[in-house]
Amino acid sequence: MSTDKKLRSYDWFGKSDKMGFVHRSWLRNQGYPDDYFKGRPVIGICNTWSELTPCNGHLRDFAEIVKRGVVEAGGFPLEFPVTSLGETIMRPTTMLFRNLAAMDTEESIRANPLDGVVLLTGCDKTTPSTLMGACSVDLPTIVVPGGPMLNGRYRGECVGSGSFNWLHKEKQKVANFSDADIHEMEIGAARSQGHCMTMGTASTMACMVEAMGLTLPGAAAIPAVDSRKKVMAQLSGRRIVEMVKEDLTLSKVLTRKAFENAIVVNAAVGGSTNFIIHLLAIAGRLGVELNLEDFDTIGSKIPLLVNLKPSGKYLMEDFYYAGGLPVVLKEMKQYLHNEAITVNGRPIGENNAEIPCYNNDVIVTVDAPLQKEAGIAVLKGNLCENGAIIKPSAASPELMKHRGRAVVFESIEDYHQRIDEPDLDIDETCVIVLKGVGPKGYPGMPEVGNVDLPEKLLRKGVRDMVRISDGRMSGTAAGTVVLHVSPESAVGGTLALVMDGDMIELDVANRRLHLDVSEEELQKRRAAWIPPAPLAARGYVRIHIEHVQQAHLGADLDVLRGGSGSEVTRDLH
Ligand code: FES
Repeated sequence: MSTDKKLRSYDWFGKSDKMGFVHRSWLRNQGYPDDYFKGRPVIGICNTWSELTPCNGHLRDFAEIVKRGVVEAGGFPLEFPVTSLGETIMRPTTMLFRNLAAMDTEESIRANPLDGVVLLTGCDKTTPSTLMGACSVDLPTIVVPGGPMLNGRYRGECVGSGSFNWLHKEKQKVANFSDADIHEMEIGAARSQGHCMTMGTASTMACMVEAMGLTLPGAAAIPAVDSRKKVMAQLSGRRIVEMVKEDLTLSKVLTRKAFENAIVVNAAVGGSTNFIIHLLAIAGRLGVELNLEDFDTIGSKIPLLVNLKPSGKYLMEDFYYAGGLPVVLKEMKQYLHNEAITVNGRPIGENNAEIPCYNNDVIVTVDAPLQKEAGIAVLKGNLCENGAIIKPSAASPELMKHRGRAVVFESIEDYHQRIDEPDLDIDETCVIVLKGVGPKGYPGMPEVGNVDLPEKLLRKGVRDMVRISDGRMSGTAAGTVVLHVSPESAVGGTLALVMDGDMIELDVANRRLHLDVSEEELQKRRAAWIPPAPLAARGYVRIHIEHVQQAHLGADLDVLRGGSGSEVTRDLH
């Protein structure tokens, strides 16, 4: 019987009553010796392994390695599965299920006799979803990011995972690639276990959890197949047992300072715009004050130090060999809260004080940045009363101040149907407006904001245009793309009222997005606006539509904001 009354698991395993007997007895069917029930901290290994999530396909083996560390440190590891979200495979979009996976994680942790948790993550949404759930319970928690794949290769060149897709599309449209060419791309894109190896959403989120102090130092960039990743997993298993003894809970690490550090680091690494939505949702679980404007105030003047695709030249494997995130944290120390505590119990500044950089072309110095200001710009205006975002480092400088005629698509289906019509009235000065792809309108808010340009303009050599939508864009995409417009069109935001021929003004320097239509005319249009017919949804999708919040709040379900803590009572919720 467990003897340590301070442990949460004591409630399950420490009692001599009937339920204590039941809890111990049934677990013994897996062959645990007596001492496992005598005061060892019970560590839940929350595994997002799935063969349907290729990026996390190696995490079943990793769980065994974490267990090694847990046992070495005197803990009792128990692995459990949670909903896994495979970005390239799930339909219509994994984002639809992020909150479901978070709910699964939260209840799996709270309902079970766990004292601490290790989150095994990788593919885009598996990091934010598990972290959101874990935050609502607030046990000692450490993240083991699964790591990126080795660099993609194509005919002697390095090509990034997501970048392959864009290249593939363009080549098909413009250069008529042969089937053999495409096959060669296909087999070179994903050469090893691990997640996408550009600075897309998965790599961004791995860097973010390290920047917030939730991993052991240096964990984010290690490739999935590098033996040092396994060492990191084992050491994390050891460390979580100590964290339980120290009662180093998530909320003690994830303070407002940790979030501010993440915003700074996201800008410095050129991270994905999806990070904004996830960070807002995570903060909402902990009750940390964070709003959309913070991303601009704290992050927009931050220099870009990491030369990685999609905006730069290299890939995650190169980033790791150059020294990885610790080098960035050291370089950026003047911008960071260096005293913020991390899961190893030390301040983040101390962890990364002595790290050398091995390749100054991959990670440049803060005195000679790749760009002086690399963060996210938050736009306001009558077209986005609650905000919209743009990533200036991924946009075309000449389009950052632009006035153009709107060409409106009422839905993504409408866009697909008409974008390549030869007589579509559009030229490179126009602004493409896409409606109906926000959190409610297209449940899950798909990554379609960076819609392709019309084929006839691509053939003319046009490579970028201003695009505006209430959707998201892939972390591996680029362009002058205004995203996350809030309120979205499906709930009657001004975006819903835009018509073909309206003039739109984008002025990134002044953070302005304006629909040049009189207030009187807008009121007329608003009165005549008919909300889209509700989707005939049932089950989880219906719950999502009814409860999902707007993008500027992180698109979490309203009923999931905040946390219930780790105590289990009848009236918990
Ligand atoms: Fe999983 Fe890109 S598809 S990280």
